[in-house]
Amino acid sequence: MPKVTRYIKIHPRNPQEKYIQWAVQVLLAGGTVAFPTETVYGLGANALDGAAVQKIFLAKGRPGDNPLIVHVARREEMDRLVTRVPARAERLISLFWPGPLTLILPRSRAVPDQVTAGLDTVAIRMPRQPVALALIRAAGIPVAAPSANLSGKPSPTSGIHVLRDLSGRVDVVLDGGRATVGLESTVLDLTGDCPLILRPGGVSREDLEQVLGQVALDPGLAGEESGLLQPRSPGLKYTHYSPAAKVFVLRAGLPERLPAALARLVGRARAGGKRVGLLITTETAGEYCRQKIQPDYLEVLGSRGNPRQIAACLFDALRNCDRHHLDLVYAESIPEKDIGLAVMNRLLKAAGYRVIRV
Ligand code: TXA
Ligand code: MG
Repeated sequence: MPKVTRYIKIHPRNPQEKYIQWAVQVLLAGGTVAFPTETVYGLGANALDGAAVQKIFLAKGRPGDNPLIVHVARREEMDRLVTRVPARAERLISLFWPGPLTLILPRSRAVPDQVTAGLDTVAIRMPRQPVALALIRAAGIPVAAPSANLSGKPSPTSGIHVLRDLSGRVDVVLDGGRATVGLESTVLDLTGDCPLILRPGGVSREDLEQVLGQVALDPGLAGEESGLLQPRSPGLKYTHYSPAAKVFVLRAGLPERLPAALARLVGRARAGGKRVGLLITTETAGEYCRQKIQPDYLEVLGSRGNPRQIAACLFDALRNCDRHHLDLVYAESIPEKDIGLAVMNRLLKAAGYRVIRV
């Protein structure tokens, strides 16, 4: 593993050419470069070089059977990575690329086994963040990149998150500011009869259905809560997004019930000597103040009516919980509409599916 990590602040929208060239040289020499995308930061290596890709697994402590997403900067670059591009993939690409949509397609032999973990499919996406696009375009190769966190931690949405997790484990960190979407891309499997969402993310199911008609959700996603089914995307059985604290999700029939329920939970936790944090929404924030609820940490994630705002700060909030050395965290649930579906998927994982109904 590299001992020295070069940390470079790069302009998020007009990346400096010399920094891009440094990073390109590292990629072409088989090294690892963390870079911003619009979803979360990625940890990249040359996707056509199995030994380089291996370094990603080592740096993250990632299980070898969890395949990586290959990032491209031009539509034509995907032709050598897959055996064919179906018409519905072309439609999605013209509408959602560059952007937070990953497509699963049958792989070609150009893709090393290390990337796909031996599967006969490959995951491909074109990010829209200018640094990511400039880097991949200048490198002239497809770039394999999982989220740039230590395995099991929340995905990084800032360069500092990456540095805290991977300093001394990767060659370069390009810090291009905050990731605007804040959670990962939607992973859509197009190899079956019906398009199947393996991981909800930055492009909503509603958006996809507008284009494709019916889009199914991997039944494993819903089943996870009951522990009945395994998700189809190998990564989802591993990713926990977990802070050190024990997280609980509060599901309320009526959001107005939340403050009173949380007042009791916080009171009980603090009486037991526990440090407790709350992740709440703007709609209930005033009531917490009125009821004088005093957790050790409180973060207002955003409005229930604007799940994109909540998505943008969720992972930062989960990391903040660690920095405040909390024992318990209670998080409000939000409606599973639009990107709210992805927010709840990540929150429930962070909570290990511990749900309190009020
Ligand atoms: O937004 C994102 O997707 C970010 C940025 C960096 O692009 N990347 C990301 O990568 O989240 P990662 O490795 O953390 O998550 C990739 C997910 C995993 O759940 C993995 O199992 C799944 O995609 N995946 C990759 N290849 C697959 C395949 N061939 N079949 C099914 N699932 C696959
Ligand atoms: Mg990840």
